[in-house]
Amino acid sequence: MLEGIDLQVQRMLRRVNRQTLRHLDGSYQVATKSSYSDLVTTIDRQNEQEIDRQLRVIDPGCRILSEEGFGDRRVDDLDGHVWIVDPLDGTLNFVKQHDHFGIMLALYVDGRPTLAYIMDAVNQDLYHGGNGGGVFKNDCRLTRPADVGLHDSLVAISSSLVLDDVAHLTRVARQASGLRMYGSAAMEMIGVLTGELGAYVSRLKPWDLAPGRVLAEELGLSVKSIDDDGISVLSSNLVLVATKRAGQDILDRTD
Ligand code: IPD
Ligand code: CA
Ligand code: CA
Ligand code: CA
Repeated sequence: MLEGIDLQVQRMLRRVNRQTLRHLDGSYQVATKSSYSDLVTTIDRQNEQEIDRQLRVIDPGCRILSEEGFGDRRVDDLDGHVWIVDPLDGTLNFVKQHDHFGIMLALYVDGRPTLAYIMDAVNQDLYHGGNGGGVFKNDCRLTRPADVGLHDSLVAISSSLVLDDVAHLTRVARQASGLRMYGSAAMEMIGVLTGELGAYVSRLKPWDLAPGRVLAEELGLSVKSIDDDGISVLSSNLVLVATKRAGQDILDRTD
């Protein structure tokens, strides 16, 4: 059953991605949400409506937690099949750069991380996997990245955490091989999955974190909360996704 769902979701994501790329010419509207730096476009909304509609066909009876509010009104637990959906991650990049954005989904079954998908939109590369079956870039299985420490790692830290020096993250940045800010959790998660980045630190909502978390844990990478011990799937978390060594190096330098 999960295999059927998986293949249909992959096909659906590629379709939604192709539709998204048709709008790189700027044929969409932009609105602000909480502030001038928090944008939403008609493409975020269209993608979410389309993904949510298709998920209900592919996986009848599922519940959906999705960023723009077209999913279920309240999802307070992980009973049954729960999909977590980010219909366009890196909206600012989409609007300003026409590049470096993604689409992300994760499926939890009775609280168990089960399937996850991160689409690198412009390159049309789909990272997917979970449930003990490994992680793939399209049809190619990924191997676990080398276990590099902080001094040998490029590290991505979200700009707001660096600007406010949350948990002494500027000290972490200084001790890394280099600091990078991609502006999209999808792109940064892919960076850690492929070994381009040794670590990614950000404060993330459920739809920003769940897909990358499922794939990172599947690859044996470390996913930890920086401000307490546990990560809650259904709320916002200050998290670190990293190789085991870089993750420990970072935890030793933050408080
Ligand atoms: C945002 C991006 C950004 C991260 C923010 C997210 P959105 O997602 O992933 O890199 O720093 O926390 O909200 O709103 O573009 O889907
Ligand atoms: Ca958003
Ligand atoms: Ca996002
Ligand atoms: Ca989004």
